[in-house]
Amino acid sequence: MPHTAVILAAGKGTRMKSDVPKVLHRIAGRTMLDWVLAAVTESGPERIIVVVGHGADEVIESLPDGIESCLQADQRGTGHAVQVAMEALGPLEGDVLVLAGDTPLLDAATISALVNAHSSEENVTTVLSSIVAEPHGYGRIVRGDDGAVRAIVEQRDADDAVDSIDEINAGAYVFSVAELSADIARLTTDNAQGEFYLTDVVKMATDNGNRVGAVIAEEQKVMGVNSHRHLAEAAAHRRAIINSELMEAGVAMVDPNVTYVDHDVIVEPGATLYPNVHLTAGTVVRAGARVGPDVSAEASTIGANARVWYSVIRGAVVGTAAEVGPYGSLRPEAVLGESAKAGTFVEIKKSVVGAGTKIPHLSYVGDATIGDRSNLGAGTVTVNYNGYEKFRTEIGSDVKIGSDTMLVAPVSIGDGAMTAAGSVITEDVEPGAMAFGRARQVNKAGLAARLRARYRGDSGSE
Ligand code: UD1
Ligand code: CA
Repeated sequence: MPHTAVILAAGKGTRMKSDVPKVLHRIAGRTMLDWVLAAVTESGPERIIVVVGHGADEVIESLPDGIESCLQADQRGTGHAVQVAMEALGPLEGDVLVLAGDTPLLDAATISALVNAHSSEENVTTVLSSIVAEPHGYGRIVRGDDGAVRAIVEQRDADDAVDSIDEINAGAYVFSVAELSADIARLTTDNAQGEFYLTDVVKMATDNGNRVGAVIAEEQKVMGVNSHRHLAEAAAHRRAIINSELMEAGVAMVDPNVTYVDHDVIVEPGATLYPNVHLTAGTVVRAGARVGPDVSAEASTIGANARVWYSVIRGAVVGTAAEVGPYGSLRPEAVLGESAKAGTFVEIKKSVVGAGTKIPHLSYVGDATIGDRSNLGAGTVTVNYNGYEKFRTEIGSDVKIGSDTMLVAPVSIGDGAMTAAGSVITEDVEPGAMAFGRARQVNKAGLAARLRARYRGDSGSE
């Protein structure tokens, strides 16, 4: 049976106490709504419509291409949200799959199981349920003596008998379109929250002698997020899923509980992730790389057999067998060549560092191109900015920049050249030359001793 998917995402999410619309809160770098949409898309619906309301513009903006939306201007309950969607969709055939935008762990397999159960059984409605350890807060599945689903009762409307039921409504359903259209037109707000409850459709159907089925899902998959505590819990579950898949595939993790790999990250088998590594969207870690402890990498590539530790890299490329850290900062467009090194307290931005070139300590390199096998001494700075404009520094191959050299850009240092420690280099240095850009040293014999004597008032001996 073809199906149309409706995703409810208009609610304010009062319990999040946040200005961000609830479904736009993120888990592993992706909004809750995007997680739901990705799973639903895999179940193959003909159309997907998202009901928006609170923060509608922001939510619509976040939707991938091809996803429809409709506005529920006043959020008068989940039943009302489905009424709004059905009006927007117009005449439909087949089944309607309804899901909440705040159940981010629902996966495609669970959704497909629900859709398939509905089409293979004689149900007018099929509900996704779960038996959970902490049912409090969820709507409960009330079954008759024969075990058949009779009704769903919300927490706020539950008596003690209902409160003790541990089978909960996951908030995902498949309805046959004729039954749904007839029933939602008859919903009332006669309940503790004064809302139109979609869940009341179940009792209407069974009162009419129709069959409602249930597919029981794993507890972890159906979790609804209503607060930041839930969001953190859901994120931990998602992390466990991502990390187990990576470890199955051959990625080593010292402690998966403190390893944070977001959606849209590639970690190749044979890489090792140490504790407190955060890899965010667009990051690739190649085989044999060792990343962490304490690395944050965003939209960056870490090459095969590279080592990055205690460092932050954003929009950067770390070459094969290159090394970054401890305490390195690679900013956008920093590209480290093969076996290059950016060591302790080294910041690099918008610069290409050639193969085998080392920048081991305390340096700033910005707007520079550096050839192969060069060495930048401790404290080297590319002086790229005069307060108004930025300028480039070109350094060739096999160059030795002395410690504490200021390279005042625009400036270029030829292949095989050297600069003396402590130089301020303002003019180009030709290949093979040695540049001194500092005052010549003068030693005054005995002056130190005479000064000491003057200030102590003695002969100068200790
Ligand atoms: C709902 C179910 C409950 C179930 C739980 C599962 C109802 C009445 N209750 O409760 O049985 O156990 O989900 O997580 O359906 N929404 C709208 N428009 C509205 C109201 C809500 O679009 O007017 C959206 C929300 O944005 C949210 C979803 O519907 O994505 C569920 O709403 P929420 O208020 O979180 O319902 P729960 O109290 O969790
Ligand atoms: Ca909810």
